[in-house]
Amino acid sequence: MRQAKILGVGMQLPERIVTNLELESMPELDTTDEWIQQRTGIEARHYTAPGESGVDLALPAAQEAIEKAGLTPDDIDFIIYATLSPDYFFPGNGCFLQDRLFGDRPVGALDVRTQCSGFIYSLTTADCMIKSGLYDHILIVGAEIHSTGLDFTRRGRDVTVIFGDGAGAVVAGPAPGDQSGILTSALYSEGKYARELWTEYPASCATSRLSHDILDQGLHYPKMNGRMVFKHAITRMSEVTHEVLNKTGHTVDDIDVVLPHQANLRINQMVAAQLGIPEKKFVNTISWTGNTTAATIPICMYDALKNGRLKENDLVLLVAFGSGFTWAASLIRW
Ligand SMILES: CC(C)(COP(=O)(O)OP(=O)(O)OC[C@H]1O[C@@H](n2cnc3c(N)ncnc32)[C@H](O)[C@@H]1OP(=O)(O)O)[C@@H](O)C(=O)NCCC(=O)NCCS
Repeated sequence: MRQAKILGVGMQLPERIVTNLELESMPELDTTDEWIQQRTGIEARHYTAPGESGVDLALPAAQEAIEKAGLTPDDIDFIIYATLSPDYFFPGNGCFLQDRLFGDRPVGALDVRTQCSGFIYSLTTADCMIKSGLYDHILIVGAEIHSTGLDFTRRGRDVTVIFGDGAGAVVAGPAPGDQSGILTSALYSEGKYARELWTEYPASCATSRLSHDILDQGLHYPKMNGRMVFKHAITRMSEVTHEVLNKTGHTVDDIDVVLPHQANLRINQMVAAQLGIPEKKFVNTISWTGNTTAATIPICMYDALKNGRLKENDLVLLVAFGSGFTWAASLIRW
């Protein structure tokens, strides 16, 4: 069976940089640069301009990934678009991206809703489609706009300070006859914790999807049990790493580079300690991106490539945890 590999990576962040000091200057938010840095490792994040959409960010990231893969849009057979913050309730962002990228050429587009694990779920889906021979070149996007949905008052400060906007994209394609490519993946969800990190409204299951009362109570903002997320993230990210290593006959010492989800620098430091992997093998972008959910891993990958931290033949671990709860890992021979 042919292998699938990542052929090109792209990224796009909105122009506007919002520092912790800017957040500190908002009296209603009641936060400080010191608190944010100490608890999360975040110094700044990017916010979209008014009217800028998720697809506006995804488009240049996708175009760059296609170009870096040495391909043109005509070579792309399918789109997988991971986001928890689609531009509209429906249709999915994949359809809007199809229009912007391909115009009159119809291309299949699948939106993936597994939050912070969305990129690994998408990559794994693409891997299976390529291995099976269904498609040759698949565009995988992770993109989010959080800034338009955050509660900039004390009530929402725990969530608001950690999220940022951004997009990352990769093109995956066949790697015939060699040992490189996506070796294996593992994907999980545990819905009993769904309400520990979620946005409840607008809700189709409610009598009224949205009401003045819901807005007044701020129930349309994301809510998080930070301590529970923190604890589960460390356990599950370590566990799923061991699983993909065991499945492929590798050990933690074989890993050259870790591209982890960027939720909190302290989570990644604790995962490194628990696994016994030196922290210098972890690529972290959180200080300047914040948590960009499905976009974090492709952004991290882009940064690692740009800085020469990801080289041919490296054994690369992708690992993520987030809302759902969902968690996932992939092991790649680069
Ligand atoms: C959110 C998080 C940074 C909070 O850190 P924590 O050490 O757990 O802090 P707590 O929630 O226990 O709150 C401690 C205090 O800080 C306060 N606080 C919370 N957010 C704050 C902010 N932005 N600025 C200042 N103070 C804040 C709390 O109100 C609380 O005050 P109190 O002691 O007077 O009640 C941390 O729990 C975390 O990162 N969790 C994982 C989040 C995550 O990964 N989410 C995305 C998953 S993909």
